Order: sequence, then C-alpha cells, then structure tokens
Amino acid sequence: MSALNHVSKFLFLFLLELLCFVQLSSLIVTAISTIKNGEGSSTLVSDGGKFTLGFFSPITNKTYLGIWYTEDTTTKVWVANRDTPIPNNSGQLQVNATGIVMITYDEGNSIPLNSDEGSGNVTATLLDSGNFVVTDLKYNRVLWESFDFPTDTLLPGMRLGMDFKSGRNYSLTSWLSVSYPSSGAFSLTWEPSGDSGELVIRQRGQIYWSSGAFVDQGFEHMPSLKSPSLGYQYNVSHVSNHDGNYISFNVTNQVVARWQLYYDGLIVDGGNRVLDDFSDFCYGYPENNGCAHRALPKCRGSNEKFVKLRGDFTKGKGKHYDNYDDNSSLSFSDCMEKCWISCDCVGWTVSSNGTGCATWSGDWKFSNSTDGVVKYVLVSESPKKTNIWLIGIVIPVVVLLAVVCFWYLRRKWIRSQDCLTAERRRREQFLHELISPVKCDDGSELEDSGREGHDLRFFGYASIMAATENFSSGNKLGQGGFGPVYKGKLIDGREVAVKKLSNTSGQGIVEFKNELILIAKLQHLNLVRVLGCCIHGEEEKMLVYEYMPNKSLDFFLFDPMRKEILDWKKRLNIIEGVAQGLLYLHRYSRFRVIHRDLKASNILLDEKMNPKISDFGMARIFGQNTIEANTERVVGTYGYMSPEYAMEGQFSIKSDVFSFGVLILEIVSGRKNTSFYHLDRPLNLIGYAWELWKEGVALELKDPSLKDSIVANQFHRCVHVGLLCVQENATDRPTMSDVIAMLSNETMPLPSPKQPAFFTGRGTTERNQFDSPSTNNLTISIMEAR
Ligand SMILES: *[C@@H]1O[C@H](CO)[C@@H](O)[C@H](O)[C@H]1NC(C)=O
Ligand SMILES: *[C@@H]1O[C@H](CO)[C@@H](O)[C@H](O)[C@H]1NC(C)=O
Ligand SMILES: *[C@@H]1O[C@H](CO)[C@@H](O)[C@H](O)[C@H]1NC(C)=O
Ligand SMILES: *[C@@H]1O[C@H](CO)[C@@H](O)[C@H](O)[C@H]1NC(C)=O
Ligand SMILES: *[C@@H]1O[C@H](CO)[C@@H](O)[C@H](O)[C@H]1NC(C)=O
Ligand SMILES: *[C@@H]1O[C@H](CO)[C@@H](O)[C@H](O)[C@H]1NC(C)=O
Ligand SMILES: *[C@@H]1O[C@H](CO)[C@@H](O)[C@H](O)[C@H]1NC(C)=O
Ligand SMILES: *[C@@H]1O[C@H](CO)[C@@H](O)[C@H](O)[C@H]1NC(C)=O
Ligand SMILES: *[C@@H]1O[C@H](CO)[C@@H](O)[C@H](O)[C@H]1NC(C)=O
Ligand SMILES: *[C@@H]1O[C@H](CO)[C@@H](O)[C@H](O)[C@H]1NC(C)=O
Repeated sequence: MSALNHVSKFLFLFLLELLCFVQLSSLIVTAISTIKNGEGSSTLVSDGGKFTLGFFSPITNKTYLGIWYTEDTTTKVWVANRDTPIPNNSGQLQVNATGIVMITYDEGNSIPLNSDEGSGNVTATLLDSGNFVVTDLKYNRVLWESFDFPTDTLLPGMRLGMDFKSGRNYSLTSWLSVSYPSSGAFSLTWEPSGDSGELVIRQRGQIYWSSGAFVDQGFEHMPSLKSPSLGYQYNVSHVSNHDGNYISFNVTNQVVARWQLYYDGLIVDGGNRVLDDFSDFCYGYPENNGCAHRALPKCRGSNEKFVKLRGDFTKGKGKHYDNYDDNSSLSFSDCMEKCWISCDCVGWTVSSNGTGCATWSGDWKFSNSTDGVVKYVLVSESPKKTNIWLIGIVIPVVVLLAVVCFWYLRRKWIRSQDCLTAERRRREQFLHELISPVKCDDGSELEDSGREGHDLRFFGYASIMAATENFSSGNKLGQGGFGPVYKGKLIDGREVAVKKLSNTSGQGIVEFKNELILIAKLQHLNLVRVLGCCIHGEEEKMLVYEYMPNKSLDFFLFDPMRKEILDWKKRLNIIEGVAQGLLYLHRYSRFRVIHRDLKASNILLDEKMNPKISDFGMARIFGQNTIEANTERVVGTYGYMSPEYAMEGQFSIKSDVFSFGVLILEIVSGRKNTSFYHLDRPLNLIGYAWELWKEGVALELKDPSLKDSIVANQFHRCVHVGLLCVQENATDRPTMSDVIAMLSNETMPLPSPKQPAFFTGRGTTERNQFDSPSTNNLTISIMEAR
C-alpha cells in the first residue's frame, strides 16, 4: 500500500489509532478541531498542499468537518455535516476498508457520508482540486467524492446543474450566517432553457436574482465575469448531452478560483469580486440587474430601504412593540424579509451569533450612539420632484451642455490627437470609466455620478494643490506607510487629508482604479472614509480622505500629558471600535482585506475620540501588485508584526489579529511595545504582560494615568484577550469575531493564553515578501501505512 502514500498524505498523531488502523486494516483519519484543542488535532493536506481537510468549530459546541484553503483557513470550500454538527471536539473521520466514510463522535455516534461499499481495497485522497475522493483500487472506481455534495462553493471542475447518470441536480446553498455553516436562505442553481440556460438565486424558494442567458462565455447580469481588468480569464463551459446539462468553470492563471454563494446572496469569486451585479440587496433595486421583480408590500414605498446604523430605539408615544424570534434557522436576509413585509416594522437586527431576529414595530425613535448595537433602520428617502421643472428646464440645459461639451471635447481631441501618447489615452479611458458621463470640465473638480454604486469623487490636481497650499510642509500631517499625508481645505471649506502615494508601487492606472473602487466600497463607522482620488500625469496618485481632527491614537496614548484624556471608558471604546472595523475588513466587507499594518498611529480619532482605522486597503493595493511583481518591500512595523509574517512573509487575518493584540496591550498599558525597557524583564511589552499574567498580577500592567477610572474585570479581560491574540501559533489566535464575542460577553469563559511570541526586534524593515507563497504552516508528519 505504499502507492497510497504517493496519492495522499494522512496525518496520524495518536499512535494508538495508528495501531487500530493497522489491525483493522482500514483507513482512519482522525482530526480534532485545532481551534478548541491544539493537542492531538490532525488534518489531511492535498498532494500539492493547496487544500486541507479537517475539523473546525466556528461556533461553541458545534464542530464541522470541512475542506479549506491551506493558505486561507477562513475560507471553507466544503462542509460535510453542515446540518448535523458534532457537539464537542470528539469527532473523527473514518474511512473503513470497504470505503464507507463516516464521521464518528462520542463513541458510537456516527454520521455516514456514503453507502456504496467497495471491494476491500480502497483509498481516500484529498486531491489538489479540493475534491475528497474515495476510490476502489481493485475496480478503479470512484465510490464517493465530495464534489458530488457541494455546499456553498463551486470549485473548478465542479458541476452546477443536472447529471443524468447519477440523477443528481447539483446546486449551492449559502451558509446561514457568516460563521454558521448550516443551510441558509439562498440557493444557486443552473436552470436550462433551450440550448442555453441561466443561473438563478432563490431566497427560501422564491426567485431572487437571475443571471440572464449564458451566451458567448458570459451572462448578462454578471458583467465582471468578462471584465478585462480582472487579470484572469474565466472559461465557463456548458455541457448539454446525454450525460447531463450543467455548467462548470475554470480560470487562467489564478490560484484560488471559486464561486462562493455568500449568506447574503452575493456570489463572490476567488479574487473577492462580487459576480452578481447588484450592490447590497436585491430589494426595490431601481435598475434591472437581474433582481427579480417582486411586488412591493402595499405599505412599503419604493423610496424606503434599510440603513445600517449603530444606536438604540427608544419608545415613542404611540403604539409600539418589539419582538425577538430565537428561531436559529433565521438569519440576516430572513430577518430583513420579515421586517420588510410587516407593515409597521421600522427596524431589525440579528443577534450576535448570527441567527434569530429582533424587530421593532410601531412608534420607535432611533438615536445614533456609538455604544449601541448595529441595527437596520427603515428610512425613506424624500421622493425626487419629477415635474415640469425637470422636463422644461433641466433637460434642455443638460442637452445644451452635452452639445457644448461634445463640441469642446472634439475640438480638443483634434488639436491634441497628434501628441496623445498611448499612456494618456489610457488615462482618458480611465477618467471616462470612472466618471461617466464625462463632464465638461477643465480640471477644477469633477464629480462622480454615483451610478456605479460608490460615491467616489475625482479631484482635479489644481484643487488639491490649492487645498494643500502646494503640499506645503506646514500642512504635512505625517508620513503614512505609502507616502506623506497633508491636510487640505477644499473650496467648499471641507477639511480633508490627502495622501500622496509614492511612485514605487509601480501600479498601472487600471489596477489603481480597481483598488480605489474597492476601498471606496469599504464603508464602516470605524474605517476612515476615502472621499476620492486625484491623478496627475502617469506617476502621481493621491487619495483624499475625511479629515480627523484628533490625529491618531499614538499622539495621545504615548504622550505623558495627553494620555490623561483617554480614560478607561474611552480606551475600551477604542478597543471595541478597532475590533469592529477590523472584523468588517476581515469578514463583513465583500472583499476580504488584510490590513497588515495595524498600529496606534494608524488608528485615527474623530472629534468624539471614536477610532477609525486608516491605511486600510493599502495593504491590498500593494499586495496584489506584489503577488505579480514579487519584489516590493514588506510593509508593516516591527513590534506589531506577527512572527510568521515578519520571519516568513506569511500573512493572514491572524497576523492582523496579532497586531490587534499588541494594540490592546499598548492601549491598556499606555506603553509602546517596541520602546520598552524594564530591568530584569523581557525586552518588550508582550513579554512583560505575559510575565505579569503568569504571576497573576496583570493589573500591574495598568497605565498609571488611568487612575480610578478603571474597571478591574474589564481590564483583566482586555489583557486576557490581548494575550490570546499574540499567541505564537497563528491557529491558536482567535478570529476577530471571536475577539468581539469575548470582549462583549463578560461571562463567556476564555481559554488560557499560551506563550506569546516574544518579538524583540525594533524599527521598520525592508525585505522581500511572498518568498514562498505555498509554504504550509501546519506541522506535517507523514506516516507510511504498510
Ligand atoms: C457547550 O456544551 C457544554 C457541555 O455540553 C455546556 O455545558 C455548555 O453550556 C455549552 N455551551 C454553549 C455555548 O452552548
Ligand atoms: C462529548 O459530549 C458528550 C455529551 O454530549 C460526552 O458524553 C462526551 O464524553 C464528550 N466527549 C468529549 C471528548 O468531550
Ligand atoms: C464498513 O462500514 C460499513 C458500515 O458500517 C459496514 O457495513 C462494513 O462492513 C464495514 N467494512 C469493514 C471492512 O469493516
Ligand atoms: C489494491 O489495488 C492496487 C491496484 O490494483 C494493487 O496494486 C494493490 O496490490 C491492491 N492491494 C491489496 C491489498 O489487494
Ligand atoms: C484549470 O486551468 C488550469 C490552468 O489554467 C489547469 O491546470 C487545471 O487543470 C484546470 N482545471 C480544470 C478542472 O479544468
Ligand atoms: C435543477 O434544479 C433546479 C432548481 O430546483 C430546477 O429549476 C432545474 O430545472 C433542475 N434541473 C433539472 C434538469 O431538472
Ligand atoms: C475551456 O474549457 C474547455 C473544457 O474544459 C476546453 O475544452 C476549452 O479548450 C477551454 N477554452 C479555453 C479558451 O481555454
Ligand atoms: C424557523 O425558521 C425556518 C425558516 O424560515 C422555518 O422553516 C421554521 O418553520 C421555523 N421554525 C419555527 C419553530 O418557527
Ligand atoms: C443565538 O443567541 C441567542 C441569544 O442571543 C440564543 O437564544 C440562541 O439560542 C443562539 N443560537 C445558537 C444556535 O447558539
Ligand atoms: C445617524 O447617523 C446617520 C449616518 O451617520 C445619519 O445619516 C443620520 O442622520 C443620523 N441620525 C440621527 C438621528 O442623528
């Protein structure tokens, strides 16, 4: 059976089970979720190292068997037992000699995955395509494969549609919520019609969105599938013959190709791009982007929608009631639907574990508050006055302007045609795409029409120069990771921060534009908003941000006088705000963004001392370029960098979690991690905190200037969570959603932190990153079965 070893790698950590294996001459893969229990866990890694099969536990007391990307453990591409989770970490995956695949737990309980028995000579292999296959070697027959049981993700080589031989109609069903794998509200199916067919998303059985017919490698309502700026090309094939009627896809030169149906009904691909063409939700969407036309409930106007706000409902004078439905099969979209069709409902939210709905109906007043829980509040936009004014005056004026504009552009074009270089044409093209329709303007200020779902503005170079007084040194606010930042005052009096991106990025205009739109779509209370950009010539690119009057966290935190302003309540608010912002970047935004340079100086503070993460998306802008170029310098700051990132260039959301842990410790102690000196103590704050923790005197870490404002158990909890975040092993560190649960739920028991990474390097550094993008950071041991 040594051939087995060539095909698959099984990891056995318990010798005992190995003996069992030998005696029973069956294949036993044992694995225990590493999240809960670091010891004794094992996984199965595909031959090329791309995929890993193992147990994971996204929710307390619920363990699932799944397949994920070895490089990106948060993206699960398959879940075996989504609707039958295991109650604790006693799960094992067993494949016996006749090829029966079973998840067993608690001695005697089992969930069989197949029933077709083989000859007694079988092998179970996780292929590098992400397919877990059980093959009968004697008859060379596939007994069972995970590709036959898709969950929410379609990988290259998987089929969506009907297979006549097996009688299966393959479809995807979304997760229930962001961290809840059980079957959710949305499904994606292939529905043939005539020679072609279309993709259809249903929400609890009702048609929600459809792609339009498959024509010429594309779908009408999936324009991004054929977008030339993707950097990779889709090859979607439709098979219609006696074997079946289905589609499948592949991409050229892209490592993580997938279509994933998110819990909120969006289809996201491996480049984290949304493929179905609507922003947010298919509710009352004005244009036909494939969204199904659904009759509005009588009581709802087309100008009504839900807006995500943080705050509280307070009772009004009129009739009102609230309701909590703890049905754990209800999630986000169900709650929205529930509120939408109920006439007097004015707001809703989902409980923090992602299931169950709270709704508010009748006379409630909503007030914003940064302490409140996020809620979705019904707002009605005042209807636009479409009347004689529009028809009589506005339209003729617009037509006239368009004629003048056309004439002007044409004249300008004729004049400058000769000297237009290819590069400049490209830029013109960019402008055209970004600001359509093009307005007649000569560089003062252009405004985007907002039609592309983002309200990005394009600023003229002249207006930026004027705003920043020609980038005068007096206006310089600081030096960001990618260039200097200047304060500016626009003509309308608004204050902004302008970041000049350094030229070393080597990015082309097209990439810049893609990334820009991406970060413009990242909108969260705890992220600094990008207002727009400015491009001058080929080289100079600038980002325009909202201006934060209170500078950054380090300005207060590490100054002996100013730190007094930050009492405990404010610090806790900052920790929670940063956590929310980071969670959004990691999980809730449609593009998974890894910040990579989270530190006190990148946390800006608004007038009420609410934190806003800045420099977000920068990581991605440069990250993508780096993957292609392989030569850019590493970004990040020692002291905040996780060991695996600093030493091996590997980064994941867990490296941000590490930085966040350092930040917590800095916030509670008022000291920098790097410039830390203490006699007879390890040389950095992490080490110091760890020693105090072990000695049971964590309170000594307290910033003396906090005085009495401190709440001891909250302080203790923060240090505890901070230490969990800076653990040496990335898989031990909690995710940001865990962190938020830990911080917000004061009774939740926390695991004890393991020894953190003692990282005593200083200063910033330059080095190559992505030296070895395929390195696997799990410990692998291979046993040869005989
Ligand atoms: C997890 O299971 C244990 C033991 O069955 C139980 O005591 C605990 O309350 C459960 N926790 C949750 C969050 O359900
Ligand atoms: C798992 O939980 C069950 C009860 O739900 C218990 O009988 C069993 O001993 C537990 N196993 C482990 C490994 O904790
Ligand atoms: C494998 O498991 C199935 C189902 O439990 C059983 O019927 C079969 O006999 C087992 N095969 C061997 C070789 O133990
Ligand atoms: C299992 O099948 C393979 C391929 O046919 C063969 O090489 C191997 O010897 C067989 N093993 C046993 C135990 O029959
Ligand atoms: C997808 O394309 C890549 C190369 O572009 C190829 O190596 C791979 O085998 C293809 N996968 C499938 C399932 O066709
Ligand atoms: C597959 O299922 C979808 C959704 O239920 C259905 O519309 C479609 O017709 C089915 N395909 C076949 C070939 O029956
Ligand atoms: C697309 O995929 C099909 C089947 O996998 C293959 O036959 C065809 O050559 C591919 N086309 C391109 C342009 O790669
Ligand atoms: C919970 O919600 C699901 C999905 O809407 C529904 O099918 C089920 O009947 C509900 N259960 C209860 C007890 O209301
Ligand atoms: C989710 O939380 C609510 C309370 O916030 C609880 O009633 C419900 O049982 C939880 N659901 C699950 C599946 O843990
Ligand atoms: C709450 O905040 C939102 C967005 O920041 C704003 O549009 C809204 O007017 C605010 N509402 C109140 C009552 O202040």
